[in-house]
Amino acid sequence: MSKTADIGEHYDKRSPIGDELRNGQLHMWYWYDREDDASLPEAVHRMTRKVTDTLGLRAGEHVLDAGCGPGETAVYLATRFGVRVTGITVSRFEIDRAVQRASSGGVAGTVTFAYDDFMSLSCPDATFDAVLALESLQNAPDLDQVLAELYRVLRPGGRISFSDFSLADQGDPARVATFMDTLKLPRLPTLPQWLEHARAAGFEIEEYTECGPRVFGQKAKYLETALRMRDEVTAKFGEDAVDEFSRLHHGFFVPRRNQIGYVIVSARKPHR
Ligand SMILES: C[S@@+](CC[C@H](N)C(=O)[O-])C[C@H]1O[C@@H](n2cnc3c(N)ncnc32)[C@H](O)[C@@H]1O
Repeated sequence: MSKTADIGEHYDKRSPIGDELRNGQLHMWYWYDREDDASLPEAVHRMTRKVTDTLGLRAGEHVLDAGCGPGETAVYLATRFGVRVTGITVSRFEIDRAVQRASSGGVAGTVTFAYDDFMSLSCPDATFDAVLALESLQNAPDLDQVLAELYRVLRPGGRISFSDFSLADQGDPARVATFMDTLKLPRLPTLPQWLEHARAAGFEIEEYTECGPRVFGQKAKYLETALRMRDEVTAKFGEDAVDEFSRLHHGFFVPRRNQIGYVIVSARKPHR
């Protein structure tokens, strides 16, 4: 199986329950601390807002949601900012779910989804005003190649924002290796390495943040919250599917809370 098909299958297996738990946003949460009473979908939506706000979107712009998941983010962008969105993913489950979402969200005219590989996109140069890669670059087999491809499809002066895991503490590498294996991460850059890759592709960095303590650092809070939602999810998917979902994610929780960071980076393709 190709690496891309393998990643597609990885998400086809995990996304249905992930979609249910996080309301269509298959990325990390943002909780200020253990006392923060935001629900899981709210905490996940906070991350959507934090990352997408850095894009500075204007009505009518065309946005690529590169690695779009089951579509909630694209629908949010179209509704909130009046932009056109093209979402791409390599998961068939995600496309079907995303198309349903755009339709029920009343934005099917401005939001479209397609199966496409961000390592080699089918659209021409300079198609988009902005590119979002919300926790999707992590799976790219070659980070320089995907960044070059996203640079190609952005117009001069266009913006990119991405968020992803980072390596925050070099100690205890075996725990980090288990995490990477579980999530199919071919690499785990530090924040300076993420910035270096983006600069090497030609982007000018304009803003970045590292918020790991409020993201992976709150893994215990996620577990508590997900356990509270277990009966509801089991009623929909069945006990076996929920057990399998938990088994597939076991390695995610293995690193110590300060080992895995989380970066948000916003950059621009120069105007020339
Ligand atoms: C962790 S999920 C994040 C999904 C979405 N951005 C969100 O936040 O809800 C990673 C996404 O990247 C997509 N992805 C991974 N490799 C890809 C590739 N080569 N081309 C396109 N999408 C890819 C997956 O299909 C999945 O939708």
